[in-house]
Amino acid sequence: MNNALARASGRLATRLRPRAALVSAAAGLALVATSMVVATSSAQAAESTLGAAAAQSGRYFGAAVAANKLSDSTYVGILNREFNSVTAENEMKIDALEPQQGRFTYTNADRIVNHALSRGWKVRGHTLAWHSQQPEWMRNMSGTALRNAMLNHVTRVATYYRGKIDSWDVVNEAFEDGNSGARRDSNLQRTGNDWIEAAFRAARAADPGAKLCYNDYNTDNWTWAKTQAVYRMVQDFKQRGVPIDCVGFQSHFNAQSAYNSNYRTTLSSFAALGVDVQITELDIEGSGTQQADTYRRVVQDCLAVPRCNGITVWGIRDSDSWRSYGTPLLFDNNGNKKQAYTATLEALNAGGTTPPPTTPPPTTPPPTTPPPSSPPPTTPPPGGSGCTASVSLNQWNGGFVATIRVTAGSARLNGWSVTVGIPGGSSVTNTWNATASGTSGNVTFRNVSYNGSVNAGATTEFGFQGTGTGPSGTPTCTGS
Ligand code: XIL
Repeated sequence: MNNALARASGRLATRLRPRAALVSAAAGLALVATSMVVATSSAQAAESTLGAAAAQSGRYFGAAVAANKLSDSTYVGILNREFNSVTAENEMKIDALEPQQGRFTYTNADRIVNHALSRGWKVRGHTLAWHSQQPEWMRNMSGTALRNAMLNHVTRVATYYRGKIDSWDVVNEAFEDGNSGARRDSNLQRTGNDWIEAAFRAARAADPGAKLCYNDYNTDNWTWAKTQAVYRMVQDFKQRGVPIDCVGFQSHFNAQSAYNSNYRTTLSSFAALGVDVQITELDIEGSGTQQADTYRRVVQDCLAVPRCNGITVWGIRDSDSWRSYGTPLLFDNNGNKKQAYTATLEALNAGGTTPPPTTPPPTTPPPTTPPPSSPPPTTPPPGGSGCTASVSLNQWNGGFVATIRVTAGSARLNGWSVTVGIPGGSSVTNTWNATASGTSGNVTFRNVSYNGSVNAGATTEFGFQGTGTGPSGTPTCTGS
């Protein structure tokens, strides 16, 4: 099975596990979304909790959780009522999970993971490889020994949690702040520039069903050099087939790193590379209306981007925050809802331009004409290189994302093209892993340099996003 298939079936298995009962409302629907869906901004009923409000558009709303607070009843009360995803605030970092080389301690991490899974929530894994919060033995390592230790850590931890993690922060904070656009100097970086992709490959091999994310801060403002540098890395990874599925935006906003209205551009630009985007560590310093308004805008920005899967706030009450002096969270020290909470809930309830699935879209009736009298060709001509293509469509009111799977016939393909009918009035706005001949009508998508060659029987995928209604009917595939 190739990677894409393995991942798809891995995710399917993950999503069908009984344990995921609650989540299946969202995740299962997201799966159905592959056959299509319509959004519902106006039809949404107001929900009274963050998780339920986010789930209306197929998204999650999570919190960073500390294991030692799971015995605090106010804390757990809010957690259980409001959220449907968790990230361990510190318990899944390298120093916590592998305090001595080769000795893994999962007890605290498991308390958080089990708390979430037993309630059907998602878990974001944070983080497999990072320059910070390394155990002492790792901080003192370098070169091949460190590279191998890092890969072993990634493999062991991702294997241990296989099937339980929705998204892994495989690599955290690998770029420098400021205008250089360079990688951050660290012991991991000094093992060679390919350390990041090596970590992603190891994570994919260990848990093919988890989404694999790159996560960073100061990457929220589209004009910042660091944002652009990460963008170029993700673009390069997608082009070269490095297994990356998502980008996490920590989104710690304060005076030095302020929310900017180009945040939505950042999210949608990364999404257009063919990755999901997630807001992973949200906190916004401030108070009152100013803070509430910024929370509202962040939520609206995520909801406006179909591939923005969910939002995680970095703690529950202000007093739980790593930056408690900035009172950056949604609940005050006593656990009361702040103005920022109300704004967040309202924005979630207002819905997005986005999908997940509530109503099936109008379906085109099946053809009523009799089958052609001459049998359709089933095998490619001898020595030829046939291929087939299938579409999975995520459709909402006014837009769509189509993912096309190209499958080679009995001979290896050296190149392929797929023609898809885009209905009148609709148009293709972004394409990844292929080039498009146009934006509407019969659009032909051709392979790019790195995915033209497909072994007999194997598959490759490309995708495109558009406005209006997505393609209907079976695309035609031509191989060479
Ligand atoms: C922070 C935790 O919140 C603190 O408790 C800990 O002392 C330091 O790390 N970026 C990240 C998070 O990716 O892991 C950090 O979490 C906050 C910044």
